[in-house]
Amino acid sequence: MKYFLGGIVVLLAITGMTRLYFNLTDDFRVANITYDLPFAAPWKSAVLSADDNVVIDQILNQKFSYIGKGAQCYAFGSEDGNYVLKFFKFKHLRPSWLAYLLPPGEYKTNYFAIKEKKLKSVFDAYDLAYREDKDNAALIYLHLVPVDGFHKQAIVFDKMGIERKIDLNPTVFLIQRKGVTLRTRLNQLLSEGHVGQAKQSIDQILNMYISEYKKGIYDRDHGVMVNAGFIGNHPFHLDAGKFAKIEKLKDKDLYSEDLALVIWKIEKWIKDAYPEYREELFPFLEERYHAYTGGHYDRLGINLDLFKKRRHLPVLNPSL
Ligand SMILES: Nc1ncnc2c1ncn2[C@@H]1O[C@H](COP(=O)(O)OP(=O)(O)O)[C@@H](O)[C@H]1O
Ligand SMILES: [Mg+2]
Repeated sequence: MKYFLGGIVVLLAITGMTRLYFNLTDDFRVANITYDLPFAAPWKSAVLSADDNVVIDQILNQKFSYIGKGAQCYAFGSEDGNYVLKFFKFKHLRPSWLAYLLPPGEYKTNYFAIKEKKLKSVFDAYDLAYREDKDNAALIYLHLVPVDGFHKQAIVFDKMGIERKIDLNPTVFLIQRKGVTLRTRLNQLLSEGHVGQAKQSIDQILNMYISEYKKGIYDRDHGVMVNAGFIGNHPFHLDAGKFAKIEKLKDKDLYSEDLALVIWKIEKWIKDAYPEYREELFPFLEERYHAYTGGHYDRLGINLDLFKKRRHLPVLNPSL
């Protein structure tokens, strides 16, 4: 009995300390942002001009402090408030060490194949954004593969404020302009009653989505309130981790369907956060949908299951 209770106390202490560690650090460690790919990387590194290098070096001469993490990335902000440095969380993108201990077989093969697909989908998505939607994604530099002669480093303060030097060549990272999410922007505007400016901001975001559809670029993650936002008065896509290229999407019939879901997400947020503006903003959204697509916005006809399925489409050459 004594040993049993002792065991429980030890177990609780370990669980508590592990949770404390995760809360304090978000498990940001070099081992979690680096990974030797077990396959040949299909991505090409960007060719940087002398001017590009000056810009990047100036940005990296600053120290970065911790902003937060999402499901895929750790984000750090520069001292001047203008840039974000993002690292990828390999924890979920690479196989667990336990999986290597599994006996060979179908389960193991499938598990490793799924992990590889997931990792490729995130990197393909950023690669696509960098090549074809650089301005909207506000990307300054994307480093998916090591480059000969690349000797840059970054100094970041982790969540606990501890200074860390990161050797950037073996690390996957990106530099992006810093902005605020659409949710933050609309909160700022609507809490002060600036409905006209809120309408204008929403319309700028919708317009950005249309410009992306016309390039065949589709965001499989429809979390528009937190993945899109503003840098000053310019709309941008701050999370390109679920971008996909779908040629067919240039067709208005297909992008109308997608725009309807984006609008539905915005409406849902308004309904929950600012129901008092519903009467004014819902008709505005219907009108904008009509202006962009020529169609009628049917909020009850949105097929959420369909979009859930599309979240898992491959990034390159998927068919709808
Ligand atoms: N360019 C940016 N400007 C300001 N905040 C950002 C920027 N990029 C990311 N963030 C913040 O970091 C969070 C996580 O970044 P995100 O790119 O969405 O990662 P994930 O793919 O893991 O969701 C975002 O929700 C946002 O709060
Ligand atoms: Mg995100």
